Amino acid sequence: MEEAPQHMQPVTEANITDLAVARWGTAHEPRLAEIMTALVRHLHELAREVRLTEAEWIAAMQWLTRTGQISDDKRMEFILGSDVLGLSMLVVQMNHQFDQRATPATVLGPFHIDGSPELEFGADMSEGVAGQPLYVHGVVRDIDGHPVGGALLDVWQADTDGAYEAQLEVDEARLRAKYTTRNDGSYCVRTIAPKGYTIPMDGPVGDLISRTDISHFRPAHVHFLVTAQKYEPLITHLFEQGAEYLDSDVVFGTKAELVVPFVAREPGPTPDGGKSTESWMEAHYDFVLQPT
Ligand code: BEZ
Ligand code: FE
Repeated sequence: MEEAPQHMQPVTEANITDLAVARWGTAHEPRLAEIMTALVRHLHELAREVRLTEAEWIAAMQWLTRTGQISDDKRMEFILGSDVLGLSMLVVQMNHQFDQRATPATVLGPFHIDGSPELEFGADMSEGVAGQPLYVHGVVRDIDGHPVGGALLDVWQADTDGAYEAQLEVDEARLRAKYTTRNDGSYCVRTIAPKGYTIPMDGPVGDLISRTDISHFRPAHVHFLVTAQKYEPLITHLFEQGAEYLDSDVVFGTKAELVVPFVAREPGPTPDGGKSTESWMEAHYDFVLQPT
């Protein structure tokens, strides 16, 4: 019988991790080598800890395959998976350890769409969508309280059925817009009051959640991406005070500083300087930006 060639490594349960770490440590960029070797160590550790069976490994590969198959540029099932595992929020927390006075960041979520239309102060981003009028207004400031003029607020939200534009077949921008702050830092968004909603449950992430006691809902909120020269971009939400699911947000995105009263108002003057003939809601919030 022929002998095995000299260079063949005997692979055992005991040495496979060291062999794989050494191999991935050859990545050309140091940061990639650091991440890939840590990934190998932690994956192997997981498999050892739970004594992963082959059937379970196949099930995991099939779950990942389904997650890829259902994903496209509108359906971001991998981001959703990261969100419900708390990974997205962990990464947000680690990368936004800013001044206490700055508005805290939260998850981006899978439904942001680039290139929203630019609207004037107080213009209605909910045109044609049913719901109770909501004005969100205030000032964008720096951490010393100075107004930031010319800041861009990219705003998006779900309708009262909990659907984002990205989940619907529509041709025009729906419940999303960009507003620029005036010289005094002020902004005013006219929209409709959001409702709490379920994350998409018809895919592999939903399948997994259904096998647990995890609540699959998010509390009512409006999303903001605030950018201005010389400041860190701020990805955040404003949540309605008293909303359902504030204490069980499926993606761990709530923060006390981001919960604001949505106050019911009678027909009459509105924050854009106009007048409403129907009752409306008011949310007042000043965003505070962290300098770069
Ligand atoms: C959202 O708020 O749009 C969202 C965030 C994470 C997962 C699903 C939805
Ligand atoms: Fe949302």
